[in-house]
Amino acid sequence: MPKEMIAKLEAELAEGLAAARTEAALEELRIRFLGRKSGRLNDILRGLKDLPPEARREVGAAANRLKAEIENRLEEARLRLNAAAAPEVDLTLPGPPVRVGHRHPLTLVGRELVSIFEKMGFDYREGPEVETDYYNFDALNTPSNHPARDLHDTFYLAPGVLLRTHTSSVQIRVMEREKPPVRIVTLGRCYRRDAQDASHSPTFHQFEGLMVEKGTSFIHLRGVLNLFLEKVFPFPVKTRFTPAFFPFTEPSAEVGISCPVCQARGCPSCGHNGFLEVLGCGMVHPRVLKNVGYDPDKVTGFAFGMGVERIAMIKYGIKDIRLFLENDVRFLHQFS
Ligand code: DAH
Repeated sequence: MPKEMIAKLEAELAEGLAAARTEAALEELRIRFLGRKSGRLNDILRGLKDLPPEARREVGAAANRLKAEIENRLEEARLRLNAAAAPEVDLTLPGPPVRVGHRHPLTLVGRELVSIFEKMGFDYREGPEVETDYYNFDALNTPSNHPARDLHDTFYLAPGVLLRTHTSSVQIRVMEREKPPVRIVTLGRCYRRDAQDASHSPTFHQFEGLMVEKGTSFIHLRGVLNLFLEKVFPFPVKTRFTPAFFPFTEPSAEVGISCPVCQARGCPSCGHNGFLEVLGCGMVHPRVLKNVGYDPDKVTGFAFGMGVERIAMIKYGIKDIRLFLENDVRFLHQFS
């Protein structure tokens, strides 16, 4: 095959490839050059039979090389076209955000409460949610005719069997099993027959502490709780102890923290009180110590209990207790 013919064919091919913008245009080129009937290469091959055998072999080989080359260049052009059509990938861009789970705010607060007390030498204990009258009331110096039982509207499962109304029942279970010195905290779900509103829920969580050993006094109670309240809130707090009544402690107190909105000056968010009540506490009643076989002449103790939801609401500025139960991710994802 004369060199000029090859060169001409190559030039034509280059021109065709440069102009081809679509797969269809490339296919047309393929037919034009390699088509069986009237492809340009076949035109050349058809002339082979007129050549002397020596030249025929040479031209035949050249034609085959040319055919392979044309096929290669068409394939290259097709790949280039496809690459241009695909969107460009920018490997420096950040990937799509990964959705991760979040701990429930009550889990976060609960763990923090436990951790603060563990650092002060308290151990963690648990007790059952299904309780008996004895552990929930009687052993805690709250006999059945006691008016304090009315305050706890109780879910009864069977006579004498109930859903615990507070975690104080765990105090009894621990003291029955363990000898003083006892320093424990517990955390868990409680139940009361309360109608649901922004600040009440038939199920909620309490955090409870108990310390019993020789010489424990109200001063220890104040010291431990002051330290705890300063640690748990992310803002400076003043604390206030006011006299209160619980059947299982004597004396008893309620503890408030200065309102974080008005710093105890009084504002609508603290009901113009200056303080927010956060927990109940007191010195363990001698009758409670006797009920578990401790000698109230030898050991004394203090105890305290609080609503975990309430602590979380004050800590995070949450206005409605129902948010804790709804599992709305728009709420939950704000805590980590
Ligand atoms: N059990 C009480 C309640 O549910 C809270 C409480 C008060 C727990 C005083 C205590 C305590 O351990 O000493 O309202």
